[in-house]
Amino acid sequence: MTIESAAQAAYLVAALLFILALAGLSKHETAKAGNTYGMAGMAIALVATIALAIDRGVSSLGLILIGVAMVVGAAIGLWRARVVEMTGMPELIALLHSFVGLAAVLVGWNGYLAVEGGADPAEVAVLTAQGTLGIHHAEVFIGVFIGAVTFTGSIVAFGKLSGRIDSKPLMLPGKNALNVGALVAFFALTVWFVISPQLWLLVVVTIIALLLGWHLVASIGGGDMPVVVSMLNSYSGWAAAASGFLLENDLLIVTGALVGSSGAYLSYIMCRAMNRSFISVIAGGFGIEAGPADDKDYGEHREVNAEQAAELLSNAHSVIITPGYGMAVAQAQYGVAELTRKLRENGTTVRFGIHPVAGRLPGHMNVLLAEAKVPYDIVLEMDEINDDFDDTDVVLVIGANDTVNPAAEDDPTSPIAGMPVLKVWNARNVIIFKRSMASGYAGVQNPLFFRENSAMLFGDAKDRVEDIIRAL
Ligand code: TAP
Repeated sequence: MTIESAAQAAYLVAALLFILALAGLSKHETAKAGNTYGMAGMAIALVATIALAIDRGVSSLGLILIGVAMVVGAAIGLWRARVVEMTGMPELIALLHSFVGLAAVLVGWNGYLAVEGGADPAEVAVLTAQGTLGIHHAEVFIGVFIGAVTFTGSIVAFGKLSGRIDSKPLMLPGKNALNVGALVAFFALTVWFVISPQLWLLVVVTIIALLLGWHLVASIGGGDMPVVVSMLNSYSGWAAAASGFLLENDLLIVTGALVGSSGAYLSYIMCRAMNRSFISVIAGGFGIEAGPADDKDYGEHREVNAEQAAELLSNAHSVIITPGYGMAVAQAQYGVAELTRKLRENGTTVRFGIHPVAGRLPGHMNVLLAEAKVPYDIVLEMDEINDDFDDTDVVLVIGANDTVNPAAEDDPTSPIAGMPVLKVWNARNVIIFKRSMASGYAGVQNPLFFRENSAMLFGDAKDRVEDIIRAL
């Protein structure tokens, strides 16, 4: 068996392992196994690719460069993965997507310099003999475009998720026309480039795509960022697939398509859960106009202390806890689990209501609660629990804000209008754990805090939960 055919067989095994990884990651119980399949697939793919490079006569300088790149990449990857906080995961993922985009741009430019630029006459001769030179032109152009959109889009997403850029949507005048104009220009330039490949066309499309990626994500505001991250995940897959065509690497095409299509499907599911239009989100908030600024006077809020909260809880028959990003920041899940145990011992029914985008990544709250050993059967999805708030004595809103905002239902001009939320205000008493009156991720005021049956319990969620446990 030649190295070439052995490598192709290894690629097939790696592709199957990647499919098993995706299947494994879809369930709690099998997620660890899914990760292991993914790692095994990647290790096989790396070994096969290096063997293939040696077989195709890579120079010793090339081999040294591959080795150096792998050591540097692995060192940075290991370091980041070890130190990243759970709450910092989405921004790390956004940054990694930007690398995929940048790699696709570099692969595309390299393809241009080698073939269209004439640096590799042997390759040009092969493509000409096959009659696929035109296809190569298209691959270069499309790969650079998708890669550049992914690159700047992911950088902006990283900035927004890490708080380095304001999460409010950018509202340039005629923003929809700008996006559509960029796409039309891309199609026209692609046709031009395929007919007559010239350097300046590639430069222009690179610039247009960089600007488009930046604008698409900058135009999307607060609450819709989760969908954007999964959409960029999808784009990064298509960018990798485009590189696969250029490098004639089947595994990269398969893997890119897997990531691209699963990311697109996840974005679609998230859009449905958030009552958002999929097309509108992928088109950079297409059709969404800015509402008026919210400077309404909602009146005064009420405050309670931990002892009063404990008193209320000890008299309650039914309690629902709705956690959010603040629980993750405070690492309050262990205290919350302890409080749950105490209340249940007292005969109180305690359940959790989980919003699909609570926290900063899909399943964020479920992971934290599972880590603190809260039984699965009392952790319910939003749709399963939303009608039960009417019959509930006390709701504890622990570090959640946007996901319990009644403005999503009542105020059609709100940036989060139409997003389904946990209807906590229907309960008899609502206690909100947070440090201040500041807004949540979407940057909008929350009228819940000013309702008659609401009371604020200020301070770090972990400290306040522990105070309540002591008072109980
Ligand atoms: P947010 O609306 O982000 O509100 C979190 C609240 O927690 C803040 O108002 C903050 O108020 C409070 N908080 C922060 N640290 C705290 C601490 N140590 N102790 C007590 N409170 C603390 O949270 P949410 O309701 O979970 O909503 C999630 C938001 O993130 C949505 O807008 C969603 O679209 C967006 N998002 C979600 C995802 C995914 S996939 N889940 C990804 C990206 C973005 P103080 O500062 O006053 O304490």
